[in-house]
This record gives sequence, structure tokens and C-alpha cells, in this order.
Amino acid sequence: MSNEWVEPASVEVVHEPPSPPLRSGHDPHCSLLIAHCSQQFGAVPALASVNLAVRPGEFVCLVGPSGCGKTSLLRILAGLARPTGGTAYLAGRVATVFQGQSLFPWLTAVDNVAYGLQLAGMPTARRREIAIEQLRRVGLERFARAYPHTLSGGMQQRVNIARALAVNPDVLLMDEPFGSLDEQTRILMQEQLVALWQGSDTTVLFVTHSVDEAVAMGDRVCVMSARPGRIILDLPIDLPRPRTRYADREGIAFRATATRIWNVLEQGLRTED
Ligand SMILES: Nc1ncnc2c1ncn2[C@@H]1O[C@H](COP(=O)(O)OP(=O)(O)O)[C@@H](O)[C@H]1O
Ligand SMILES: [Mg+2]
Repeated sequence: MSNEWVEPASVEVVHEPPSPPLRSGHDPHCSLLIAHCSQQFGAVPALASVNLAVRPGEFVCLVGPSGCGKTSLLRILAGLARPTGGTAYLAGRVATVFQGQSLFPWLTAVDNVAYGLQLAGMPTARRREIAIEQLRRVGLERFARAYPHTLSGGMQQRVNIARALAVNPDVLLMDEPFGSLDEQTRILMQEQLVALWQGSDTTVLFVTHSVDEAVAMGDRVCVMSARPGRIILDLPIDLPRPRTRYADREGIAFRATATRIWNVLEQGLRTED
């Protein structure tokens, strides 16, 4: 997909599909697009002219060094922050899973998952039904009545994913959701998330600083430079799926792709400020 954009006239964050389409030059088949997006925190330039277009149903991984503006970008897309310049557009309903996101400790797993549906005014019986189904899909149906403190970190993060998926999002934004998990749990979670995504129409933008995680999961991997973050590589991953298991990562093609991304990341690290 082309990364050429018309220059935006003003700062704009749109969270509903525009009708008619935003401007000529915008692909109406994009689920998410970011054009010339910049973010400045006082004297600190966090993002510099980021461009990214994601098609509906695509799984895009974003990798970049710590502090390069990944979270800032997701916060803009989620509508939690306004960019200093440029445009961010996201079509449809959005759900987020942030790193170390905590569940409500006073609610059971099923009530945590149903919370967003409750806010949307869904009747109790229906929202519990959906929440139980989502817990089943992440393998936690038996823990529906458990409180968060009785669940492991991996289980809590699965509840977070179930909570995000319960609202049937068009776009799922995930910010290093597996960052605090041990390696075995992490690989299992990657496999589960890809399986859930394959059974849905959801578009996923998944931030990670793990190159292997990005190659294992993404249809595309976008690499950001060190601060101020820009996208310096946008690489389609044509390797066959599944590729989340440990053994899949040992293959020559997988390693060659990961090495290519590492080389670009290393170059990007030298561009800071
Ligand atoms: N609200 C804020 N106020 C000031 N500086 C911020 C704020 N949020 C992020 N930053 C700075 O912007 C840069 C990018 O941060 P962040 O988006 O969290 O990076 P990443 O998620 O890639 O690690 C960092 O230097 C960070 O310190
Ligand atoms: Mg971050």
C-alpha cells in the first residue's frame, strides 16, 4: 500500500468512518491511517511525521526502541491524546490492551470482561453470555468467577484480551501486551492471539520491542527509528503460518527476516535526536 499522502490541512483525529471519504488520495479501504503524524512533548520531539496505512483485517506489528514514541502513537489512535501535527484516522470501534494493564480487582473475571458491555447498556444476561464465550475462547471459562489476584500474570492478560474482544472491535490496538510474561506463556499467548484474530475480521496494530514476536505474528512489520520516531521499514511478512511456535523461529527464512529487521533497527538507533 502506498505511503504517499496529501498534506493534511489541520490537526485532526477522527474516530468514526467519515462519509464521504476524508479526502481524495485516502484509500477508503483503510481501517486505520496515520498521515504526517508528529508529537512534541515540550522540548521533546516524540514522533516525527509518521505515515502508516493498515487494511481491514490486517495484523501489523510495530517495533522500535524504547522511547521512540510507540505508546504515544497508540494513544493518539485510541483517542487518548492529540497529535501536535498530522492526521490519525481509525474506522469503527476500537479496543485497547496496554502493557501491564490491570483488571478491576473487585470484579470477577467474567465481570471484568463484561464491563465494557455494561457501559454500553447491554442487558445483564446477554453481556454475561458474551463474556463467558470470550473467556472460553481464551481458555479461561473455568475461571469466570475468579478474582484477578488469584490468576497468574498470563491469565490476567488473557482476561484483558477477552475484555477487549468482547466489544467486537473493528480495530484492536495492543501495546506490548505480553511484555511482562515469561517466554513460554508469551509464545502460547502469541499463538492464541493469532488464532483469535484469524477467526475474526478485526484489524490489529500490535506494538512490541521483540523482533521475533513481530515476525511470528504480523502480516507486516513496521520498524520505527529512535526518538523522534518515524517508520523506517514497512516489511510484508510472506512466511507461511503458523509461525508462532518456538521451532518455527529456527527456520532460515524466519531468521533472515528477523535479521533484516534487526539491521534496520540498529541503524535507526543511531539517529536519536
Ligand atoms: N505525557 C508525556 N509528557 C512528556 N513526555 C512524554 C509523555 N509521554 C511520552 N513522553 C516522552 O516521549 C517519548 C516517547 O515515549 P513513548 O511513546 O512512551 O515511547 P515508547 O512507547 O516507544 O517507549 C519518550 O521520550 C517519553 O519520555
Ligand atoms: Mg511504550
